[in-house]
Amino acid sequence: MYSQDQELEFFELSKKLLEQELAVSDYDNLADLLKYHEWKYYVKNDNIISDYEYDLLYKKLEALEENNQIKIRPDSPTQRVSNDLSKNFSTVEHYSPMLSLSNSYNQEDLDDFDTQVKKLSKIESGDIAYYVEPKLDGGSIALVYENDLLVRAATRGNGSEGEDITLNAKSLPSIPLRVKFSEHGIYRAELRGEAVIHKETFAKKNQEREKEGLTLFANPRNAASGGLRMKNPNDSRDRGLEVFIFNMAYAIDQNQNDILTQFETHAKVINILGNNGFKIPNKGIQTARNIKQAFDIARQWEEGREEYPYEIDGAVIKVDSLLLQSKCGATQHHPRWAIAFKFKAKQATSTLLEIEYQVGKTGAITPVAKVEPVHLAGVTVSSISLHNEDFIVQKDLRVGDKVVIERAGDVIPYIVKSLQELRTGKEEPIRFPTTCPSCNAILEKKETQAAWRCYNPKCPAQNLERIIYHISKEAMNIDGFGKSYVEKFMQLDWVKDISDVYNLDYEKIADLEGFGKKSVENLKAAIDKAKKNPLHRLLNSLSINQLGSKASKLIAQEIESIYDIIDWDVEKYTEIKDVGPILAENVISWFSEEENVELIRRLEAYGVNVKQTEQDKPKIIKQDAPFVGKTILFTGSLEKMSRKEAQKLAEENGAKNISAVSSNLNILVVGEKAGSKLKKAQSLGTVEILSEEEFLLIINK
Ligand code: IVH
Repeated sequence: MYSQDQELEFFELSKKLLEQELAVSDYDNLADLLKYHEWKYYVKNDNIISDYEYDLLYKKLEALEENNQIKIRPDSPTQRVSNDLSKNFSTVEHYSPMLSLSNSYNQEDLDDFDTQVKKLSKIESGDIAYYVEPKLDGGSIALVYENDLLVRAATRGNGSEGEDITLNAKSLPSIPLRVKFSEHGIYRAELRGEAVIHKETFAKKNQEREKEGLTLFANPRNAASGGLRMKNPNDSRDRGLEVFIFNMAYAIDQNQNDILTQFETHAKVINILGNNGFKIPNKGIQTARNIKQAFDIARQWEEGREEYPYEIDGAVIKVDSLLLQSKCGATQHHPRWAIAFKFKAKQATSTLLEIEYQVGKTGAITPVAKVEPVHLAGVTVSSISLHNEDFIVQKDLRVGDKVVIERAGDVIPYIVKSLQELRTGKEEPIRFPTTCPSCNAILEKKETQAAWRCYNPKCPAQNLERIIYHISKEAMNIDGFGKSYVEKFMQLDWVKDISDVYNLDYEKIADLEGFGKKSVENLKAAIDKAKKNPLHRLLNSLSINQLGSKASKLIAQEIESIYDIIDWDVEKYTEIKDVGPILAENVISWFSEEENVELIRRLEAYGVNVKQTEQDKPKIIKQDAPFVGKTILFTGSLEKMSRKEAQKLAEENGAKNISAVSSNLNILVVGEKAGSKLKKAQSLGTVEILSEEEFLLIINK
């Protein structure tokens, strides 16, 4: 359909048109471009721009068509009626058309929306109240209840007619078969909702499919919308679909009168739906006094989006008053009383410019892709870790490739794939180096490991990284001693290894440019403080391969001084629960180097603690401690202690601190101004809620 050259041109054109203001003369180009992207997405299943970028281009096309006297091309993507009808199901007509939502991306868009709502509802002064909901990313569904019974379920279809999926819907436990709408005078109601899959269920389903050799679902949305259309209702249920209901689109009484607006507000309707056993999108505070508050809620959700158990791609902001909703009405395409606030794209495309090889503190070589800077979910990305050689081979990455980049859960960007159909032939295969980029030593790779490593103990790059790690928060936690200081002091030859950190000449430092007397005093104080650190911090700070903070704590519990481990064998280490033989070998090998033992002696001579401290000793939690076996979370501002102190106290009394409200949480301690966490815990109904005072009372008993 398109040649490789054309594809490349379209790729470049996309970037260009995304960036610039468009004029009427761009219309044809833009329409052709969107047609190409539609084909890539829907036919080839291989989009080369993100949904967000597509949306922006589509909006630009719409704007050109709306604001100029352009003759709209009949094949313009805006003229397409979306449609998911298939031959497998009979079609039914919706009682009220199933529309889409228009999109917004920033506060300005929302202000425009608010202004229009005010105009349509003829409100000249005062605020419009909004209800904010998560925009669930799954498959849409419409349910019809008559005389309190579920009589029909349908997909969206083309908006006026959908596929009859009643049997499938009846198999789903989240859809009530009987309701009590008649108590509210309703004879027939049509509800709207979204079938989604819990992120964990999705991961599990894909694992199962992988084991069975089936193709994997690309994302929860595909799995959900496909799940609604299974030929066998049991398959729909087995897919783990959950249906959330977020709208009553139509309600009539026995005499066929429209009674929807009787319920006054959307919030009240949602409440009725919740009381009738429907799953409703429940996400803490959802009512906003005005558009600014609605925006703030949506932005807050965007930040916490990864913690939400279902995929959400935005927030839906709805006029709360049903009367105002009906005054606003709808276009052919979307209601004028609701708008989607789309979250920032998690995917973007860019070009792989070159590979840099970084040497880590334990000698591992990490390839890092330098890419053309690109905006992605709120930050500019130009550097992306490629982990190791296998990753590059698996993805067949080449320098010059166009690549798809994603920022998901852990906010670290990664390369999803290269767009091989856009290759020109000029791309260069990546040849992993055989020698260390810092010291030229031959790299080695152990059979069981993924990383190539430099084993030269004197490697300058490793040494630098080791010192940086030594002073960092996780290790010796020397406040105010940053990477730039390390680099400076190393340049001057004042610091050659970690022991030199404790043997600095502060007078000389004070003479350096940019170092005032005060900053040197602070530095000295921080270093003196670090000398008294518990032993486990020192162990962790040595950059021994695999010896992290957890293993360091376990080992420090078992020794009186660091010298005790010099003659430990593997067995002695592995007697400690959670310490394995590979870690043991690494520590043994490190301490077998005389130079390293000397390093420890120097550290000790400079005053660094090498003995077990009170903090290293295992904490003994009495079996009758009040919170044994319980999980706990603190929210709001506490009066009598800091959050950290409270968490420590809880831990000493047997509790485990966790960070989110979920069904795993046992106790929530609420301080002043507790917000959404409290609401959520209350709605779960399984969480014990304590005030700060009650918490202290239990402990002091
Ligand atoms: S309201 C007429 N609320 O987004 C009102 N839609 O682009 C239209 N969606 O097909 C829907 N979460 O399936 C609404 N909380 C929510 C939603 C939501 C997801 C879907 C819905 C619709 C699409 C619109």
